[in-house]
Amino acid sequence: MKAVLCEKYGQPEVLKLAEVEKPIPKDNEVCIKIHATAVTNSDIFIRGSKLPFPIIIPFRLMIGVLKPRKSIIGLVFSGEIESIGKNIKRFKPGDMVYGLSGFTFGTYAEYLCLKETDTKTGAISLKPGNISHEEATAAAYGGMLAFQYLEKGTIQSGQKVLIYGASGNTGTIAVQIAKHLGAEVTGVCSTANIELIKSLGADYAIDYTKQVNVPDDVHYDFILDAVGKAKTSKLKENCKKALAHNGIYVSIDNGDLRLSSKQLDNIKDYVEANRIKPVIDKIYPLSEIVEAHRYVEKGHKKGGVAIKVVLT
Ligand SMILES: NC(=O)c1ccc[n+]([C@@H]2O[C@H](COP(=O)([O-])OP(=O)(O)OC[C@H]3O[C@@H](n4cnc5c(N)ncnc54)[C@H](OP(=O)(O)O)[C@@H]3O)[C@@H](O)[C@H]2O)c1
Repeated sequence: MKAVLCEKYGQPEVLKLAEVEKPIPKDNEVCIKIHATAVTNSDIFIRGSKLPFPIIIPFRLMIGVLKPRKSIIGLVFSGEIESIGKNIKRFKPGDMVYGLSGFTFGTYAEYLCLKETDTKTGAISLKPGNISHEEATAAAYGGMLAFQYLEKGTIQSGQKVLIYGASGNTGTIAVQIAKHLGAEVTGVCSTANIELIKSLGADYAIDYTKQVNVPDDVHYDFILDAVGKAKTSKLKENCKKALAHNGIYVSIDNGDLRLSSKQLDNIKDYVEANRIKPVIDKIYPLSEIVEAHRYVEKGHKKGGVAIKVVLT
């Protein structure tokens, strides 16, 4: 099968398209024919492995000391069950599925074998029927992050919620969920993305490239930093000061993402009820993965960047 190999840490050019052996599912695994994967920030982080000492030590021990332990990276997939091991109960060949592969990695490939049960090595569910495989990758990654980090706030109808980084993969989905929960939503983004986040339901938009302060009289019940600690601005620092008494501030970089098929089912329900519309910025073929990494690394994608693995 075709796969993209990452055999050393470095610039996007370390990624090489290659022919490798197709995996065979074990008794407790399914084999997924991948239609689409995504280039996420996590992939950029793993491929580049640019971290200061000493934080890099536990990271490299986890991912691979001198090179990625799993040479096929990639964390998100949408595709079709191609074959199943004899102990598989939840899926049958032909089922359309989506999910995250966790420490199995391996989604930059035509086929991937995963356990059907949730572990740190992956979570699979039936894919939402009303979106493409490319959109499903954005729903899986951004949806999982958005739901898990919004849950830390138990948002109530009428509350004021601010999503910092509302135009990213997680941000675009977090805006839509918060709106569905009845919150008054303010999204922070740059000038070019104001229309986008308003079209997703944000009541107000603050442009972090033009504004340093949030309005004096507004206090937020919940603030989600949806882009992480590496992306900041003076406005972000000032947002923290605009928290209401007993308000909650959550950074997407605090704590680890829990892989959950129940959460994927929940995302499917939201997507099929048209409460969430995943946003896709660009779609590249697998053969252009280097260009896709260069683009995502710039840090300004809108929603998700998908990779078409099955060319139709
Ligand atoms: N906790 C976990 O286990 C876990 C797992 C995976 C990822 N994460 C974190 O989740 C983060 C979000 O990933 P994502 O893929 O959803 O985000 P993303 O799509 O990469 O975010 C891109 C967006 O960030 C915006 N942006 C860039 N600089 C900004 C700034 N200074 N202020 C405000 N917005 C800015 C860009 O908008 P403009 O073009 O308008 O600037 C762009 O639309 C990752 O970076 C990582 O830190 C956490």
